[in-house]
Amino acid sequence: MKVLILGGGGREHALAWKLRQSPRVTEVFCAPGNGGISQVVTCIPIALREIDRLIAFAKEHEIGLTVVGPDDALAAGMVDRFVAAGLRIFGPTQAAARLESSKVFAKEFMQRHGIPTARSGHFTNSSEARAFAAGMGLPVVIKADGLALGKGVIIAETRAEAEEAIRQIMDERKFGDAGRAVVIEEFLEGPECSIHALVDGTSALLFPSAQDHKRALDNDQGLNTGGMGTYSPAPQLTAELEAFVRTEVLDRFLAGIKAEGLAYSGMLFPGLILTKTGPKVLEFNCRFGDPETQVLLARLEDDLLELLEATIDGTLARQSPRWKAGSAVCVIAASGGYPEAYEADKLISGLDRASEDSVVFHAGTRLAVDGVHTAGGRVLGVTATGATLGEARDQAYKALREIHFEGMHFRRDIAVKGLAC
Ligand SMILES: Nc1ncnc2c1ncn2[C@@H]1O[C@H](COP(=O)(O)OP(=O)(O)O)[C@@H](O)[C@H]1O
Ligand SMILES: [Mg+2]
Repeated sequence: MKVLILGGGGREHALAWKLRQSPRVTEVFCAPGNGGISQVVTCIPIALREIDRLIAFAKEHEIGLTVVGPDDALAAGMVDRFVAAGLRIFGPTQAAARLESSKVFAKEFMQRHGIPTARSGHFTNSSEARAFAAGMGLPVVIKADGLALGKGVIIAETRAEAEEAIRQIMDERKFGDAGRAVVIEEFLEGPECSIHALVDGTSALLFPSAQDHKRALDNDQGLNTGGMGTYSPAPQLTAELEAFVRTEVLDRFLAGIKAEGLAYSGMLFPGLILTKTGPKVLEFNCRFGDPETQVLLARLEDDLLELLEATIDGTLARQSPRWKAGSAVCVIAASGGYPEAYEADKLISGLDRASEDSVVFHAGTRLAVDGVHTAGGRVLGVTATGATLGEARDQAYKALREIHFEGMHFRRDIAVKGLAC
């Protein structure tokens, strides 16, 4: 079968790397892909907003399965369009993906179905939002309703900051239409953790736990980023907490979509905070996480194609994939300046040596005549497995030390919290 992957980041590189190993996959294409992906599969220069061209490509090349990476493609109705064209595609429809693309919709869904989440209110009128925020304790969390490239959540430490956040999101439309509404939420404390589960409409298949590092600098300092590194499993998510997540989050989610006739099919990736009173859902993501996918797929022993097809066919209950024992760690190498304005087009050296005992997933890279150049904020995700978390971590950092480009920076404490457990 021929497979088409949509997207061009580290997540899509990991999907391409894994799907290429499937005995049933004959060829993998990726649109638009990146420098690293183009070294393993065929990249095609079609942007994700050109849905007609993607559909024409899938038809012409007899693509048996298309896999959607990014959230905005799902929110734009990529899956609906492919399905209407008679093509097989992995991911939720536009209506189901509203669980990610509208935080108001997600909060209402959680409240209707008893899924544990932070106390909150939501508003389309900024004076009402300000009045509600004034009645909350501090810090208070202000969230733009729609997709905002991971920048639409502000944790306000003071009343003035809360007012300013509401003004920027709602009155100034800093994030465009994503700010038509806001969610105002109580601040929760505890370690963050995410889970991934394939959902086929009637059952959910839980993946191992993984933990991201959102802040740019060591010890969770600095600005928020798309994610600076991951490890799996995350020992914070004990068997007891995992059982809680199954019953209080996934089972209730399944009951909720059934009750509402919401045909959800795809990956569900809720973000959680493990508070003293139990796990609470911060948000639903409706796709594979980036860089969580890198560590999860590094640990998956079995054929990913089988799992994706079972999700579409509604036969997930029959799947029980095997995962590598031990751990996986992914450390992101980022461009100088990231997550603010960053430098690009720097030549990267050492990729071959780094790839000897690890897998280097590319995010913002492009191929040039003299080698691979940087072309984005997050550049590479150096991923290694090991019998223990410590071994996986040492291996990933050993490989990373081989890699150089001007301005490169990375966190030195990825997975350290996991070692302490
Ligand atoms: N209620 C909350 N209490 C404490 N921190 C929060 C809360 N909601 C969000 N955050 C922080 O903000 C980050 C982003 O929020 P999230 O809801 O995941 O939105 P998005 O990923 O779309 O930006 C979270 O990873 C978490 O660190
Ligand atoms: Mg999040």
